[in-house]
Amino acid sequence: MNIRLHDGPLAGLESDALVWPLANGPSLGQAADGQIAALRESGEVRGKPGELTLLHEPNGLQSRRLMLMGVGESLDAAQVFRMTGQAMRAAQKRRFKRLAIALSDGEFARIAAEGCVYGSYEQPKYKRDDSSVPLEEILIVAPGADASAFDAGRIVGESVNLTRRLVDIPANDLGPVEFADMAESMGKAAGLEVEVLDEAALEALGAGSLLSVAKGSARPPRLVRLGWNPSDAADDSHLFLVGKGVTFDTGGLSLKPAKSMEKMKYDMAGAATMLGAVTAIARLGIKQRVSCLLGLVENMPSGSATRPGDIVQAMNGKTIEVINTDAEGRMVLADALTYAVRLGATHLVDAATLTGAVSVALGSVNIGLLGNDDSLSAHLTATGKTIGEHFWSLPMNDDYLEPMKGDLSDLRNAGSDRSAGTITAAKFLEQFVDGTPWAHLDIAGTANLDNGAPNAPKGASGIAVRTLVRAVETWPSGGAG
Ligand code: BES
Ligand code: MN
Ligand code: ZN
Repeated sequence: MNIRLHDGPLAGLESDALVWPLANGPSLGQAADGQIAALRESGEVRGKPGELTLLHEPNGLQSRRLMLMGVGESLDAAQVFRMTGQAMRAAQKRRFKRLAIALSDGEFARIAAEGCVYGSYEQPKYKRDDSSVPLEEILIVAPGADASAFDAGRIVGESVNLTRRLVDIPANDLGPVEFADMAESMGKAAGLEVEVLDEAALEALGAGSLLSVAKGSARPPRLVRLGWNPSDAADDSHLFLVGKGVTFDTGGLSLKPAKSMEKMKYDMAGAATMLGAVTAIARLGIKQRVSCLLGLVENMPSGSATRPGDIVQAMNGKTIEVINTDAEGRMVLADALTYAVRLGATHLVDAATLTGAVSVALGSVNIGLLGNDDSLSAHLTATGKTIGEHFWSLPMNDDYLEPMKGDLSDLRNAGSDRSAGTITAAKFLEQFVDGTPWAHLDIAGTANLDNGAPNAPKGASGIAVRTLVRAVETWPSGGAG
């Protein structure tokens, strides 16, 4: 797929379809403008977000079709992202070869590139009769656009798709070792330093919490560290991006019912998100020191599995009674967060499909945001808002830690009921950050699109990658903490 910026008059542009957001200011020429105005007056075209109208042989244009895209009252970054991705998918479905997208100015070139690449996502191939054909050429016409911003958009779009592909690959083809191998090759290709810790290395580090989850599986765990350490970093901050990578979550001996287990290949979405973000950060050459830790395990029941009631010791020395082996994500993150602190993190952000409760609270609209640092949380929320990724903060009163305090042990990994499940999980994680400014993203409700979207098929959403990259690009000097 060849996607590039193009300059020149729209009327003379030859393409299979010219994409025209209905809030565009400038003119397409008198003839086409008249045709569009007539459709709007008749009420057939309303211009609502997501509305797509295809006109064949439009008046006064060299393009064979005009694809009118509803975007509401005015065009913003979130609309450009959705609209370009939707146009890509519509064009692909109709087997168009050349697509042109008209934007009124250069401001949106980067987000349009992100949206086009996002819309061109190819799912892992398991269908034998897959006959989809990618577009050959996409021209973005955005007068005054900055070529480097456009290239950045392509890189970020590709990184989001890397995240999505990993999430969509079924667990039989992606266990902890396979994930670690992919992270190593993708990380190296992006220019990152990569270190893969195996089971023996994790034992030597005392990662008893993470290891307790892996015990039931025939597949050994891995902890991957990826490092981006530019010599000209803008400040002394060292952000660690930490991801939950449970490549499949059966619940362990606290086995999930079949319906709840169906989609659990996506329980590594947090790790895939952080890998996508850190590869983008490296490829963009952002002048901030950033590391990434991926905790990779498979949660299975077996004769060697951890039992409810077992007490294990985490890397930071705290003992944890495993009340419920299905509360495994926090066990993995506990040691990954401790390790990040030990390696000198000044700021921590973790992403995890951690609780079903976050979907009850926020559905698939908002990422659950919890943490110990208001300015870091505010920075993430504000950054997401500029591109239409939504974060909603939940409270972190210390009272929520009560159910996580142990009888025999320092901590227990689950409360005795379901109340405030997302918050109690985050309070548990907080016991492992040692006061470091930290934000936790619970993406269990948002990482997978159960019904697909106009710009994406069913499956991984890739949410939060674009926000995290931008949050690092706009990192407040002196640190978000
Ligand atoms: N991976 C799940 C959370 C999840 C649920 C993700 C649904 C996506 C969709 C997590 O490991 C889990 O099982 N959490 C339990 C915690 C409970 C046992 C304290 C939950 O949310 O029920
Ligand atoms: Mn679980
Ligand atoms: Zn899980």
